[in-house]
Amino acid sequence: MNFAGPQDLRQLQKLSTPVWIFDVDRHGIWWANSQGLAFWKAGSVDELRLRDFSSDSATVRERLRQIVELASDDGQINDTWTLYPSGEPQTVILSFQPVEIEGTYKGILIELVQLLGRDANDDTWRLLEAARATSLMMTTFSMEGQVLTQNPAALACYGAPGSSDDGLTQLQARFRDPALAEKVLNCGSSNELAHWEAEMRTAAGLRTHALSARMGRDPVNGDAVTVLTEEDVSERVRLRALQESEKERLKHAVAESSDKLRISQERFELAVQTAAIWDWDVVEDRLFLSPNFTEALGYERGEFTEHLRANRIASVLHEEDVAAYEAKIVDHLAHPTRPLTHEMRFVTKSGEARWYHCQGKCVTDEHGKAIRSVGLLTDITERKALEATLLVSQRMEAIGQLTGGIAHDFNNLLTVIQGNAELLKEFQGSDDELTAEIVSAVRRGADLTKHLLAFARQQTLIPKAVDLHQLVPEMKKTFLRTISETVTVDFEAAPDLWPVHADPTQLETAILNLALNARDAMPGGGTLTIACRNAEAQEIARATELELERHDYVVLAFSDTGKGMSPEQVQKAFEPFYTTKGVGQGSGLGLSMVQGFSRQSRGDTRITSVPGRGTTVSIYLPRAEVAATPRANPTPPEIALGQDEHIHILEDNQHVQETVSKLVRSLGYSVTTSDTAAEALEWTHRNPQADLYLVDILLPGGKSGVDFARALKTRQPSANILFMSGFSENQLASSSGEELGANFIAKPFDRSAISKALRHVLAGARVAQKA
Ligand SMILES: Nc1ncnc2c1ncn2[C@@H]1O[C@H](COP(=O)(O)OP(=O)(O)OP(=O)(O)O)[C@@H](O)[C@H]1O
Ligand SMILES: [Mg+2]
Repeated sequence: MNFAGPQDLRQLQKLSTPVWIFDVDRHGIWWANSQGLAFWKAGSVDELRLRDFSSDSATVRERLRQIVELASDDGQINDTWTLYPSGEPQTVILSFQPVEIEGTYKGILIELVQLLGRDANDDTWRLLEAARATSLMMTTFSMEGQVLTQNPAALACYGAPGSSDDGLTQLQARFRDPALAEKVLNCGSSNELAHWEAEMRTAAGLRTHALSARMGRDPVNGDAVTVLTEEDVSERVRLRALQESEKERLKHAVAESSDKLRISQERFELAVQTAAIWDWDVVEDRLFLSPNFTEALGYERGEFTEHLRANRIASVLHEEDVAAYEAKIVDHLAHPTRPLTHEMRFVTKSGEARWYHCQGKCVTDEHGKAIRSVGLLTDITERKALEATLLVSQRMEAIGQLTGGIAHDFNNLLTVIQGNAELLKEFQGSDDELTAEIVSAVRRGADLTKHLLAFARQQTLIPKAVDLHQLVPEMKKTFLRTISETVTVDFEAAPDLWPVHADPTQLETAILNLALNARDAMPGGGTLTIACRNAEAQEIARATELELERHDYVVLAFSDTGKGMSPEQVQKAFEPFYTTKGVGQGSGLGLSMVQGFSRQSRGDTRITSVPGRGTTVSIYLPRAEVAATPRANPTPPEIALGQDEHIHILEDNQHVQETVSKLVRSLGYSVTTSDTAAEALEWTHRNPQADLYLVDILLPGGKSGVDFARALKTRQPSANILFMSGFSENQLASSSGEELGANFIAKPFDRSAISKALRHVLAGARVAQKA
């Protein structure tokens, strides 16, 4: 209420009840009517204004403030107070109404409604005071749910009861869920004490209260009432919820970390299964090695420790690795901060060497001195084996390229020697025996280069379907003559043996090489078994050590009962020029040829051997899709002469050019020559078309024989071309071969071979003649 001023005070002066105005800010009485002055036993308003209320407790001040803030504008609040007007307690019922003093200050107009006599006993007063002072909220409701009275705590919480707009009772209005008000009244009527928690609409917003309700009697009129006691437990509930969620979080965290622990334990176990651990106490010189390591070396647990104690670590290392290991350990201890990595071979109980990779570090004392060394040992035997085979195949590849090149040059030389020897014999009437010697030496030389080319996989192959049932027994007859009488040769072949797809001449050479090796391995006699069987695609797929496609193969296994080979010998056997035979006895090209030939035929060769027991060399050759045609008997060489047709020879090597020219002329042809592709092209511009162009493939100056042929064909599409080369015809990429309708003859060739090739090409037939 707005307090207007002096005329209002005059009105109040007229009242018969004691009235005074309390200044809340200053905390003292500001004004009182005469009845008020009498109650406070003061002579004048001024005297009363000076009265000191500073000893009032904080609770009293707080309650007065709440009255100012909570009471609605026109709302009056009645409350029971104990005042001390003259030092003696006086219990009174007061009515409070907030007012403004001089337009700004907060004030309360207080009217003494009833002076309660001291007729009630002391306990009753004390109880009344306790109810006022407590922080528990107490409210008495009528059975209609209206507030009859409430203590200051309830007043502070809910404010003065007002009428609600939405038709709720004052009790219902307190609950966030009004339906819960029923519960209060019900328990009231059943006269039972009930406790529960509920969310309440307080002046400070929604709060959680612990409620207890009980039925009682109104001391004024004896009506049934419900007494509701409330305690604000919001903080407790919040803490409890927090605790719950924390508990839940902890539960999760524990579950999660035990999961993590389990996983890392599993990982650790897995790691320890594959890798082994060492832990070496340097000071005490005690070595721990994880059991899986000692097991891998074939020792029982205790047995290994015993063995080490008696023999030191060097006894389980490969002898070649001991020195390096010892140096490494000295270095490891001398530089404890550097990590240790080392590879070495351990020897198992049965004497087998296994490669291990060691990776570790030192633990140091406060002076930086190594006191422990710990680390991991990983078995890398398989990796090492792979590395070794890779190295071998890389070396073989390099040697292959080299030997291929040498063979090519060599073939040029042989062409010159052979051609001239034949010409000597034919036209100079030279001594037959002498020239025959030369020609046979050339043949042997040509055989050698053939082996080299076979190893380099640059041999000219003309594969066809070959029936081993026919080929091997036929050959057996030939090489029984060569092989010593003390060696028995057995031939076993499955009756349903597939034909193989291979070059028959090369296959014969391979078979002969293997038979000779077997003979040399059995100087005191023995048995060579040649067993042929089918190997289906599935079997091949399982044999991962073979570099084969998934096809059907035929295996020719040559087993002897000879001296066998050590693992090192097996590893080196395919290398060209590797031989254990004396000077002049072996060139070390036999097995290189066999492997080169089998691989070039899309197969492979394997050796298994037990020293002292014997060796088996197996050749895998692809199965032929068509049946083999019976082999015709070789026809004796004959010479086919020309009829003065014109042959133009393109060859860069002067000696070869001269020899070949002489050979061709001797066969009844007229010959012109060029050294380079450019020169030959130039020649074609100035001359009529030759009947045949005999062209070397590899030429200097950037243009090959193929390039020349291509250029020639654009101008003389009908030109006959015969290529010659010391390499295989494979160098003629098949596409350009087709495009040029290419014919081919390998160097070195004899007179008969070149005579036939020339006649064939001139007659319009296709020629692929190998050496
Ligand atoms: N059946 C076998 N038994 C034992 N050792 C063998 C056998 N076959 C080959 N070897 C070993 O492999 C080496 C290489 O064989 P390879 O056939 O390549 O050359 P070579 O026989 O020594 O000479 P070449 O065959 O060129 O006359 C032989 O010197 C020999 O030590
Ligand atoms: Mg040999």
